[in-house]
Amino acid sequence: MAEVIIVDDADAAGQVAAGLIALELDRHPALVLGVATGSTPNSTYRALAERRPDLSQLTAFALDEYVGLEPRHPQSYAEVLRREFGEPLGVPASRIRLPGQGVAPVDAGAAYERAIVEAGGIDLQILGIGTDGHVGFNEPGSSLASLTRVKTLTEQTRADNARFFDSLDDVPLHCFTQGLGTIRRARALVLLAFGAEKAEAIAGAVEGPVSSSLPGSVIQLHPNVTVIVDEAAAGRLANGDYYRYAWQNRPEWAIDASL
Ligand code: F6R
Repeated sequence: MAEVIIVDDADAAGQVAAGLIALELDRHPALVLGVATGSTPNSTYRALAERRPDLSQLTAFALDEYVGLEPRHPQSYAEVLRREFGEPLGVPASRIRLPGQGVAPVDAGAAYERAIVEAGGIDLQILGIGTDGHVGFNEPGSSLASLTRVKTLTEQTRADNARFFDSLDDVPLHCFTQGLGTIRRARALVLLAFGAEKAEAIAGAVEGPVSSSLPGSVIQLHPNVTVIVDEAAAGRLANGDYYRYAWQNRPEWAIDASL
């Protein structure tokens, strides 16, 4: 069962997640960190930057990227990660890897899986979740064993992401995404979600049946998962009271660096 931590807001969640990352960094400074984009992880990146950790040996692997955008396009995930993660934390672009970099799209999936293995595997993967339960760009129906590959974005996701572009037509049709099987191979997962619009997806991911209909439910197949949510995103959890009780009464030695 995932460790579910319910906090007041995104800033508090960022503090807890940054604490977990700092703990991992203490254990092995050459951490391989899986990084997500979107608005959810930003409070974690900010809280981590405040701690001024030594990230000189860290390598980051992105969850996903659009197909066909120039790396310097303001909405390419290469650029978003440079802006939101690399710059505040002092991680140069050369140590932020993305699927599709320097290879033909047809070879991108296998090349990315190889690069992750060569780096020693992802130690800790940060995840957000979509309102339909997607993680990465693995939309409902994605195989729970899938690896990094090219996917066609759903019309819904293109419409959701159109707010970042001049028009819907500018949103790419295709993306590269780590698969659900790739995510399962990371040694630890930290899933964050905020706001009532995520409540259904979080309840399904944490407590619902494991199903490709709700890709986030893949976390239930992983032995080391921490879910950090605000009260609104926790609103549909059947066992919310237990999660609060367990977090308040955790053993003193557990997750001590996170607070
Ligand atoms: C981001 C990603 C997506 C987002 C999800 C939530 O790399 O893969 O799965 O995590 O769409 O987006 P936000 O955080 O903007 O609500």
